[in-house]
Amino acid sequence: MLVLGIETSCDETGVALYDSDAGLLSHTLYSQIEIHAEFGGVVPELASRDHVRKTLPLISEVLANVGLKQDQIEGVAYTAGPGLVGALLVGAAIGRSLAWALDVPALAVHHMEGHLLAPMLEKDAPEFPFVALLVSGGHTQLVEVLGVGQYRLLGESLDDAAGEAFDKTAKMLGLPYPGGPELARLAELGDSGRFRFPRPMTDRPGLDFSFSGLKTFALNTKYKELPDNHKLDERQVKQLKADIARAFEDAVIDTLVIKCRRAIKETGCKRLVLAGGVSANKRLREKMQEALKKEGGQTYYPRPEFCTDNGAMIAYAGWRRLKAGQNEPLRFNAEPRWKFSDLLAV
Ligand code: KG4
Ligand code: ZN
Repeated sequence: MLVLGIETSCDETGVALYDSDAGLLSHTLYSQIEIHAEFGGVVPELASRDHVRKTLPLISEVLANVGLKQDQIEGVAYTAGPGLVGALLVGAAIGRSLAWALDVPALAVHHMEGHLLAPMLEKDAPEFPFVALLVSGGHTQLVEVLGVGQYRLLGESLDDAAGEAFDKTAKMLGLPYPGGPELARLAELGDSGRFRFPRPMTDRPGLDFSFSGLKTFALNTKYKELPDNHKLDERQVKQLKADIARAFEDAVIDTLVIKCRRAIKETGCKRLVLAGGVSANKRLREKMQEALKKEGGQTYYPRPEFCTDNGAMIAYAGWRRLKAGQNEPLRFNAEPRWKFSDLLAV
């Protein structure tokens, strides 16, 4: 079955073709970074307008890349939530109408299910069951995954998502949008011994997270070390920011690792999947792999380009549900706050 996947939930237009026999055939991604950079964050209306401009040309592009025609598509999957409502409606409207025009089934994909199943696009794909750490700009969740749609929430962030904390701390340090990868780059120049930030909620049992305090900790450290009348030169200021970035990143990574080890122990499941934008973080991947090895476990993650938003994960997740016989009625909807618990097991 040849499935077209469309992702438009936020600031990236992703389109891909997944074939159930041959695997991923073609994928393309258009990032709106330049449009939003001058505003320091995503402007929803500008995001929607750009998805309107880009989605159809990108669909033509993925087909042309592999010499296929529109009428060879056998199913269409599109992200229907969670995300920005206007942005989601663009992909949902195009995806559902295209499926209707081609007379093929359509599937409304949950964006986080896309992230969760993304490691299955890799050669070394995890088998069910596994524990998944979903770390993106909007979510931080630990989930026990028994099969597609069979998810048990083990813990989640009570306030900011990990990616959101990265982005807000980056902004406070004067780094450009998108902050997470910029902060990670700066942290590489930092000294991990200069500041030690807390590891929130690790001193009590449970698998929930809280990251908003770390952002405040970073802000207070900056004020203390860099008062208005400071005498530091440019090089010292840059080093200070790198050291704060490093302390922040160390704290987030340690906290995520501690909770994942706990989840592995509690569930008895030895496979851990890392997914979502923050799982592109190199040091997180390394530290998690090291820690899991000590537990006799194994870590799985998508290639970096499929950690952040993309069309390939949507095509794949859509195919998993289409092949189980699920499809959409002749209407479409966007679910900005779609809960995992509302998904059907297939
Ligand atoms: O999954 P994603 O592309 O979009 C959402 O579904 O939210 O995740 C984006 C998030 C942003 O907060 C971004 O700053 C963060 O992932 N991110 C990173 C890195 N790359 C992306 N955070 C830390 N280190 C990175 N290398
Ligand atoms: Zn995402």
